[in-house]
Amino acid sequence: MPVIVIVGAQWGDEGKGKVVDHLAQSVDVVLRFGGGANAGHTLVVNGKPVTLRLLPSGILYPKKLNIVGPYVVCDPEVLVRELRISKEAGSAVLLDNDAMVVLPLFKQIDEGRENERGCHAIGTTKNGIGPCYESHKARREFRLRDLESEQAIRRALDRGNLYADLAGEVRFGGDEPMDFDEIVAWAKKFSGLKEYLGDTREMVEELLEKPGCNILAEGAQGIMLDEDQGSRPDNTASNSTQAGFSKSFGIYPPVLKHTAGIAKAYVTRVGGGVMPSEMDNEWSRLMQDRGKEFGSVTGRPRRVGALDLPLLRFACRRGGLNSLIITKLDLLSGLHSIPVCVGYLYKSTGLRVPTFATLSSNETLANIKPQFIEVDSWSQPIDKCRCYDDLPAAAQAYINLIENSVGKPVIGVGVGPERDAIIWRNTHPLF
Ligand code: IMP
Repeated sequence: MPVIVIVGAQWGDEGKGKVVDHLAQSVDVVLRFGGGANAGHTLVVNGKPVTLRLLPSGILYPKKLNIVGPYVVCDPEVLVRELRISKEAGSAVLLDNDAMVVLPLFKQIDEGRENERGCHAIGTTKNGIGPCYESHKARREFRLRDLESEQAIRRALDRGNLYADLAGEVRFGGDEPMDFDEIVAWAKKFSGLKEYLGDTREMVEELLEKPGCNILAEGAQGIMLDEDQGSRPDNTASNSTQAGFSKSFGIYPPVLKHTAGIAKAYVTRVGGGVMPSEMDNEWSRLMQDRGKEFGSVTGRPRRVGALDLPLLRFACRRGGLNSLIITKLDLLSGLHSIPVCVGYLYKSTGLRVPTFATLSSNETLANIKPQFIEVDSWSQPIDKCRCYDDLPAAAQAYINLIENSVGKPVIGVGVGPERDAIIWRNTHPLF
């Protein structure tokens, strides 16, 4: 049976949680395949916001199975909190034995490195994500299965000299590490997680044999933050494209039926790094206010820019996207006009920069100038529209502009924060 993957097509915070929550109604299983508590997927249920950082956005539906795969880095305190929400909702959760544990030392190292970088700081969420994935690359990750007993905890902390090396780096950063026994005591608090552990790869393989079973795989962050395809070095440390799903579960097309990218109707980014269409003017301040553009994990204000079409074209290609879902279109209602970035020019030569890939060179970056056009807004609110034909002509023209520039169909449009405020086009091929 098919797997559908949903990923962010920009720099994260595109509204994936709401889309996954909406689609979760029509699937049996929702699965999270990458990242950690650096993500914050906010859903609005009965007018109340719920932010999930680790468990998939399907946990709010009774009886739905939610899977956390082996490539996810887990802060056990966050897990325990979200498992409580799942229990209340009556949903089921299976955590992979091999999913990684973010030790407190990883957070200290993350913070120490950011301080060390000074004005070149990446702007990480300081959740220990990068150092935790490094331990995986070094084949000495601390896994959820290592929480099972004190003996297993001690063995895992000693594996490949893990504790000693991490404590050394914390000291080098000028901080005092938790001592070995303190970490053991900390880890023992989470032994109860073992009742949720299992082999998720085997489970997914079995589910795929079951007729009529649909799996929705929920990405975290966005393609532009992917560790390989994103805007390095200010990226996250995991694959936030569908490759993250394929590499951890060993499932590829054609079983992987469709990958949809979620893109906001404008662009935001938290942290440092390139952002060609960034604006700092009355319009960007209005969008920040209307869109409540503050990080759901860190509370930091998000940088705001115009919809960047070359960037989206790049993300569709490098992220292997079949289609797009545009969110927050309602926030562009009632404006004088809407800025859209349609290309980049070399400042001095006036030549077009052919692809966003060229921009990964810092030298090129220093010399490019985004080209903007202004397109029409629409006067009436659209948050009650539930049918594509009910959208005003200018809103449909905005969607057409995206489809024509990017070459992918827009299969859905988000028109408000509520669960059902999403319009599916007749053509939507998901389920
Ligand atoms: P890290 O993932 O905490 O190491 O941070 C690396 C970069 O990714 C920083 O610029 C973060 O702001 C960004 N980042 C990580 N997770 C998210 C997310 O869920 N939304 C938006 N940006 C994120």
